[in-house]
Amino acid sequence: MKNNSFVSVADLTKDDILRLMRKATEFENNPNQTILEGKICATLFFEPSTRTRLSFETAVNRSGGRVIGFSDASTTSSSKGETLKDTIKMVSNYADLIIMRHYLEGAARYASEISDIPIINAGDGANQHPSQTMLDLYSVYKTQGTLENLVITMVGDLKYGRTVHSLIVGMSYFKPSFRFIAPEELRLPEIYRQFMDSQHLPYEEYTDFSEDVINRSDILYMTRVQRERFTDLIEYEKVKNVYILRNSMLAGSRQNLRVLHPLPRVNEIAYDVDDNTKAYYFEQAKNGIYARQAIISEALGYKTI
Ligand code: CP
Repeated sequence: MKNNSFVSVADLTKDDILRLMRKATEFENNPNQTILEGKICATLFFEPSTRTRLSFETAVNRSGGRVIGFSDASTTSSSKGETLKDTIKMVSNYADLIIMRHYLEGAARYASEISDIPIINAGDGANQHPSQTMLDLYSVYKTQGTLENLVITMVGDLKYGRTVHSLIVGMSYFKPSFRFIAPEELRLPEIYRQFMDSQHLPYEEYTDFSEDVINRSDILYMTRVQRERFTDLIEYEKVKNVYILRNSMLAGSRQNLRVLHPLPRVNEIAYDVDDNTKAYYFEQAKNGIYARQAIISEALGYKTI
């Protein structure tokens, strides 16, 4: 990858992923390693974020680096018409690394091609969210003790959910079986179904959110319906509350099942699930610090810590 950028999970090998998992573990065991002393990291968020931006910034701060950037593009010169290209060129003058979330699919790839410093994709439209995938894989590994041969059930907005798209690619090295639960309107895009066929990965698709599927799963990956991706809000209204996980639905689930969600949740996990020991989404978000410390350290060329 040009400039050590981190744009798509598809750019990573299985060894890359396993190395990042090991590094995340090392950072979790010892988070305050000052390997970024003297480095400046820019966080450019053209879309809203809580977890991704703040955990990236925590990762930089814990590693001894400093952060510049913006969380609201309307306060920047992009609101005067400055192009993404010029913005990237300018920030490349000021920082050692750019962490960028953008509403356009492919924006991170484009930025990586014109930048002299590494770009980390913090989400590009409905396309990819590769740093989320690293923390998801790390969470799966921590809770299951392995990444291999797991049954992963994904529920909700599989059409626009970029975390779903990235995680399918990231898990593909580890012989998973997938179950997908989505309304017809939010079905997983064909390109990902073709990808799984090409990798000989078994998958099943459902429109009903049944306990039968939950009970055959190791990971239940819930997702929010992505309101911001709909051009017709009447269509959003039709599907927004289509699936809600309630605590009672986990009664017959496997002992090792863990409920993951990239967050934010809107309505798709009832609050009574939060106290279930199988709910893991808040710990999952915490794991984002360690996974992102690992990603940043690699992007800046620290292959070992
Ligand atoms: N999971 C995630 O991307 O959350 P934020 O939108 O809050 O960053």
